Amino acid sequence: MEFMLVSIFFILSSCLFANSDSSGLSVNFYGESCPDMEELIKPVMERKIMEGKNITAPATLRLFFHDCFVEGCDGSVLISSTEENKAERDADINLSLAGDGFDVVVQAKKVLEEACPGVVSCADILAVLARDASVVSKGPSWEVPKGRRDSRSSSNETAAAQLPSGESNLTQLVHMFQSKGLNLLDLVTLSGAHTIGSAHCKEFEARLSHNDSTIDPAFRDELMRNCPLSNINPDVVQRLDLITNLDFDNFFYQNLEKGKGLLTSDQELFSGSAESRELVSRYAQNQTFFFSAFASSMVKFGKLGVLTGSQGEIRKDCTKIN
Ligand code: HEM
Ligand SMILES: *[C@@H]1O[C@H](CO)[C@@H](O)[C@H](O)[C@H]1NC(C)=O
Ligand SMILES: *[C@@H]1O[C@H](CO)[C@@H](O)[C@H](O)[C@H]1NC(C)=O
Ligand SMILES: *[C@@H]1O[C@H](CO)[C@@H](O)[C@H](O)[C@H]1NC(C)=O
Ligand SMILES: *[C@@H]1O[C@H](CO)[C@@H](O)[C@H](O)[C@H]1NC(C)=O
Ligand SMILES: *[C@@H]1O[C@H](CO)[C@@H](O)[C@H](O)[C@H]1NC(C)=O
Ligand SMILES: *[C@@H]1O[C@H](CO)[C@@H](O)[C@H](O)[C@H]1NC(C)=O
Repeated sequence: MEFMLVSIFFILSSCLFANSDSSGLSVNFYGESCPDMEELIKPVMERKIMEGKNITAPATLRLFFHDCFVEGCDGSVLISSTEENKAERDADINLSLAGDGFDVVVQAKKVLEEACPGVVSCADILAVLARDASVVSKGPSWEVPKGRRDSRSSSNETAAAQLPSGESNLTQLVHMFQSKGLNLLDLVTLSGAHTIGSAHCKEFEARLSHNDSTIDPAFRDELMRNCPLSNINPDVVQRLDLITNLDFDNFFYQNLEKGKGLLTSDQELFSGSAESRELVSRYAQNQTFFFSAFASSMVKFGKLGVLTGSQGEIRKDCTKIN
């Protein structure tokens, strides 16, 4: 009898928490408190893109990467610097995070504060918008586990120490991802986000000047023309995926096979080891395979260092601690 009761309890609780896991996040987290939150914020990104702000999707996806990679997915990247504290987003290592990424979060927060005040965290808004960024770019979709709380701090020093640079080699990248609990598969898969967006000349100028043998010579010449080393223009950018930099697809991996990855950290995925090269080739051959791997890695990535329960806070204004 006792055994049966215990089993029934066990079955009931596993039903109740079916969407939850050890991270403490769940897909239906706002099921009671703000059931339409995803539908409410979806048009915000769509509207910005219709207005011609086509950098919004790449900017948002990158913002999510920076949020999660530094101190976990806690919305800390959204906090503005104050006189007393220089925030993550203003680290010297030029994050050059595009303003439209911040703007879409702020706009989405405004919509949600009207519908369900004080309920939805900025960290969750960013996690949902990162998925929407993939979808609007014709990339994969996935269900976003939610329940993150917002941090009460943000530091430029941590950002500088924890973020990988575009000049990193594979060994360094593997090491940095490992320190976050992410493996080589996650590294190769998540880097596929560079199928959209652009990079400033200075992010890859070093490999143009030191005769990097992994780069296709014609591609190198083209980059040298657009980004003359003698006169680097801080406003000039080059496409991370030179074929279709607004569409989320697998050309990023096809380019790597041809020595046409823009950043050292991209090309290294193909040139740095046999194991990572094998993954690059599989993704280059099979976009469906890449899409499903990307969705899984993004869900895993979105659970890094999250604050849950009574930790942190639900910020009223995403750019400020309450
Ligand atoms: C593997 C380590 C990574 C390195 C070293 C890296 C580095 C960079 C660099 C240097 C840029 C160019 C920034 C600029 O000049 O404006 C960039 C852009 C970008 N990154 Fe990464 N990144 C990495 C991983 C990721 C991940 C995991 C994601 C998302 C899941 C991501 C998403 C993006 C996007 C979408 C852009 C384009 C942003 C825009 O056009 O405004 N990156 N990244
Ligand atoms: C982004 O949108 C603007 C305005 O609609 C357009 O001028 C620009 O060419 C677009 N960028 C790309 C890379 O298509
Ligand atoms: C962080 O900001 C402080 C204050 O502006 C500055 O002195 C320091 O160099 C910055 N550190 C990094 C790594 O960006
Ligand atoms: C970093 O990038 C931003 C935006 O692209 C720019 O306004 C800022 O001046 C840059 N900061 C440094 C230190 O290069
Ligand atoms: C990667 O870069 C680090 C730091 O510059 C260097 O010590 C290491 O030898 C490099 N590894 C490879 C395989 O090139
Ligand atoms: C770069 O290296 C190649 C051989 O790997 C050589 O033929 C070429 O002259 C070098 N170019 C420069 C600018 O050093
Ligand atoms: C591509 O990957 C998908 C998903 O893993 C798989 O179902 C499919 O069989 C693969 N297609 C080819 C041609 O290998």
